[in-house]
Amino acid sequence: MTGPLRIRSGKSGEATTAVGSMLRGSLRRGALLLAASLVLVALAAACAREHPLDTLAPAGPDAAEINSLFYPVLGVAIVVFFLVQGAIVYLVVRYRRRQAGADGSSQSQGPDSAASDDGDDGDDGDDEYPLQVHGNLRLELAWTIIPTIVLAVISVFTLTTLVKLEEVSAAPDDLRVTVVGQQWWWEFQYHLDGNTSTPPDIVTANEMVMPVGVQVPLEITSRDVIHSFWIPRLNGKRDAVPGRTHPWVIEADRPGRYGGQCTEFCGLSHAYMRMYAVAVTLEEFDEWVARQLEPAVPLLEGEAGYEGQQIFLANCANCHVVNGVSDTNLDGLPDEPGIYGGGNQITSSLVSGAAPNLTHLLSRTTFAGSVFDLYENRAKYLRYNSVADRGKLNRGELDAWIRNAPARKANAPDDSRGMPSFPGLSDSEVSDLIDYLATLQ
Ligand code: CUA
Repeated sequence: MTGPLRIRSGKSGEATTAVGSMLRGSLRRGALLLAASLVLVALAAACAREHPLDTLAPAGPDAAEINSLFYPVLGVAIVVFFLVQGAIVYLVVRYRRRQAGADGSSQSQGPDSAASDDGDDGDDGDDEYPLQVHGNLRLELAWTIIPTIVLAVISVFTLTTLVKLEEVSAAPDDLRVTVVGQQWWWEFQYHLDGNTSTPPDIVTANEMVMPVGVQVPLEITSRDVIHSFWIPRLNGKRDAVPGRTHPWVIEADRPGRYGGQCTEFCGLSHAYMRMYAVAVTLEEFDEWVARQLEPAVPLLEGEAGYEGQQIFLANCANCHVVNGVSDTNLDGLPDEPGIYGGGNQITSSLVSGAAPNLTHLLSRTTFAGSVFDLYENRAKYLRYNSVADRGKLNRGELDAWIRNAPARKANAPDDSRGMPSFPGLSDSEVSDLIDYLATLQ
């Protein structure tokens, strides 16, 4: 983004100087603006390293399609940009108004005489219009037909690409994932048999684990407002609209952890509605699935984490599901036909009560819309599946989140959405709770 910005500022700067000394101040302003935008770009780039959303580094065939459309269109846009800007600069310089000589013959013109030329030709009067071209049929035809042809050619390639992005190559009984957007996190419901009308086999949040080299068809929807699903290194955007299901596909051709972001403004924490697509080898994916299919085992009195489990059941289980432990808390589910394939009739223990399913919380690397790191040392573990066994749990971040989540990430003003604060929990209760969460591998 620095490139075009710099070019544009530089060009207007040159033009200003040419027009006259009276506008020299705006050159200084332009330089200031350029410096400020460079600082902003540098800051934005620093954020990007934390959470890479690189649109120019495709890691899958769909993103590669978009990329190979992008460069030719950019090329056309650059040519058009320089032709138009060049023409403007030429006209501004060629027909600029010049200071009259010492005799002061052109002191006070009205607004009508702005375009005058007493310059190089030396034969035009100061207050005369240059030759007007209104009604020049050939010129008007040219500047209508040429852009039409340019846009028509671009639209053919754009439409072809759009159609390609929709193509599903996966078999109907292959893995399919329902993506549910909610203020302000993402839920991924895995249908291992490809049938999205039955309860999902696996429900997880914010990190979508997928095998490499395999196309994963998605069905994208929302529980509340309109969101937009976007993992730029794997494919373009697709809106998540409540009451509707939008098909989409995603495919990675090499292992990696690809950042994503909600791209439809959806409320206070829209910017903090992030996610990751984690592409792993087929072998690792099977390993991950096997682990996710295991329910949690309720802890018995005396076992490590039991106190925390009881605190969890009393305070957290109204919204958060832990399969095998808090299944009974689903009665309060709102009736949402179209999302679970029939609303409340399906009381699968896997469906979350409108908050992230925590059964295998520790198998993920982030929490709260992928805004916070779950581990202090995640970067050391390149294998996604090993982080739960070897990572160092970020207890400080979890502690702060449990006590006062709205202070860490903005909620709806009336706290109707998002995680509430728990000021009533004592230090030891919060610590017990984290001990319990640490058992959810
Ligand atoms: Cu969800 Cu923006």
